[in-house]
Amino acid sequence: MTNDPYLLAAEAATTLRNLTGTPSFDVALVMGSGWAPAADAIGETVAELPATKLPGFSAPAVAGHGGSIRAVRTSGGRNALVFLGRTHLYEGRGVAPVVHGVRTAVAAGARTVVLTNAAGGLRPETQKVGEPVLIADHINMTGSNPITGTRFVDLTEVYSRRLRDLARAAEPTLQEGVYVAFRGPTYETPAEIRMLRTLGGDLIGMSTVLEAIAAREGGAEVLGISLVTNPGAGLVGEPLNHEEVLEVGRATAARMGVLLSTVVDKL
Ligand code: 6GU
Repeated sequence: MTNDPYLLAAEAATTLRNLTGTPSFDVALVMGSGWAPAADAIGETVAELPATKLPGFSAPAVAGHGGSIRAVRTSGGRNALVFLGRTHLYEGRGVAPVVHGVRTAVAAGARTVVLTNAAGGLRPETQKVGEPVLIADHINMTGSNPITGTRFVDLTEVYSRRLRDLARAAEPTLQEGVYVAFRGPTYETPAEIRMLRTLGGDLIGMSTVLEAIAAREGGAEVLGISLVTNPGAGLVGEPLNHEEVLEVGRATAARMGVLLSTVVDKL
């Protein structure tokens, strides 16, 4: 096995094509915490395999973070690749495994990448728990970058305006926000949450930004959607827990599924 991450992704894409009998994918969707129950609405499952069947994927570390890959045929005739679960930077395996799914999807033909996540809301004045928010831009505070060397990738429009407009055509009341990523795995302190509000953040989480950068490097168009599962620490006084994050996902799955399937078939 190679240690070049792009070659490894190309190998994974070849295995994926063979195991799913799908010659090329149009779109990839990464389902964040709480989003897995929405996956069934995207289309008919053609094949599903544990991610570990493909070169470069490791076993999931967190309960509720799945770890399987599904080939789906959408009602509109698109070939979609659905990642049920993702690798996070906080697992300590480094940045390459975090973006391997996106790189594999791009190598398998995907020109569109939909990144979903569960996020803390930094604006409880205007955000409701259980609401999806379109990611308009991000602040990468992970201290990491998937790209090494002198490859200066433009990040002026990481999250495609065209795709945000498509999503809003499906759900006109969708809000937009700036997603801030911390490495985790701790949730933030109240002081950090106040800092992030001052810096212009609207959402806080531990994923998505590195995958979005890798997708843009690969030339794919990115749609990012956060499900607000709780307010950031100290904003309402309740302590945070992962189970609450998953529960909000279960409660809103039907709506998220309709949103994703509508957007995918309008690409
Ligand atoms: Cl409040 N913080 C982070 N980092 N991730 C989250 C979250 C908060 N809520 C859901 N995911």
